[in-house]
Amino acid sequence: MPTQLLPATPENIARAAEILRGGGLVAFPTETVYGLGANALDAEAVARIFVAKERPFADPLIVHLSGPDQLPRVVRAVSPLSRILAETFWPGPLTLVLPKQPQVPPLVTAGLDTVAVRVPDHPVALALLRAADVPIAAPSANRFGHTSPTTAQHVWHDLHGRIDLILDGGATPVGVESTVLDASASPARILRPGGVTAEMLEAVIGPVTVLQRDPGSDRGLPSPGLLETHYAPHAELIFCQGRNARQALVAEVQAALAAGRRPGVLALDEETDVLARAGAIVYPLGADLGSVARRLYAGMRWLDAQGVDVILARDFGVGGLGLAIRDRLTRAATRVVTAD
Ligand code: TXA
Ligand code: MG
Repeated sequence: MPTQLLPATPENIARAAEILRGGGLVAFPTETVYGLGANALDAEAVARIFVAKERPFADPLIVHLSGPDQLPRVVRAVSPLSRILAETFWPGPLTLVLPKQPQVPPLVTAGLDTVAVRVPDHPVALALLRAADVPIAAPSANRFGHTSPTTAQHVWHDLHGRIDLILDGGATPVGVESTVLDASASPARILRPGGVTAEMLEAVIGPVTVLQRDPGSDRGLPSPGLLETHYAPHAELIFCQGRNARQALVAEVQAALAAGRRPGVLALDEETDVLARAGAIVYPLGADLGSVARRLYAGMRWLDAQGVDVILARDFGVGGLGLAIRDRLTRAATRVVTAD
């Protein structure tokens, strides 16, 4: 299938909406990452998403809406707490898990009785959702298990020849996926940390918990999509954490060089000089957590393209976006080094 890559002009957004209404696949930018969209109420169209991504059918999708007024099309009931969260954080990177309407195909929800929904905060995504006038099921627009795409070129790299159209709206501003929240649990439970931080949620609804995954196992998970080994570059990734994470990272660079391997590092701007002098290929992540989140996936893809044998990254703590960054790096990692 020939894939078109077009700038997100009003004409091309209208064309994309037609494709979606006709059962086709369109990749589009959201504020978090690029999504691969299909009409959520068309089971055949949704099935094409799984084929294009090589995604297991057991992994449920997020349904995107143009606004909270569209909730009744896919959701059976909205609790008062979920209503407050939607009013506070939509449009934005918060996904709510809610009881599903019967007309949502089981493929969208992997047979669960709940559906994950959000209203994205991106002008192209919102214009597309309004023009298509159907709920859009959209996972991240990457091959299953690979790093999520934050540019149209990343989508092209993973999916060209497999989808109808990619709308290019530039690099995505948040860079990590939405926070997935189960607000029916008491207290509400973060299933996947993301763009809306735990602190932001707690300021509105009080204490929340964070789902703790059993490393290397998907036992007891509310959704199979939360399993390990995800968001991964092609090179081996070593994630350094603990009080002495920086020193551990430098030691891993030296060990890789001593073994005749090419190390790449994802580093803060202030750390790049010392690491480059040590012999690593360095991708600068910027100076703050917002920039780290925005540049993280592009960095993994860039280092892969440089042909490095191993990618090194360190922990940035659990405050703010640090929790989502830790989650993604842990799940992308082939090895975790804890240095206290
Ligand atoms: O930022 C985002 O959320 C991006 C953009 C495109 O919106 N989308 C995204 O979708 O990251 P995806 O498919 O890569 O991740 C969906 C996550 C999975 O971890 C899945 O398990 C979870 O949402 N999920 C979906 N439906 C669920 C449900 N009914 N219950 C629990 N978790 C669910
Ligand atoms: Mg994904």
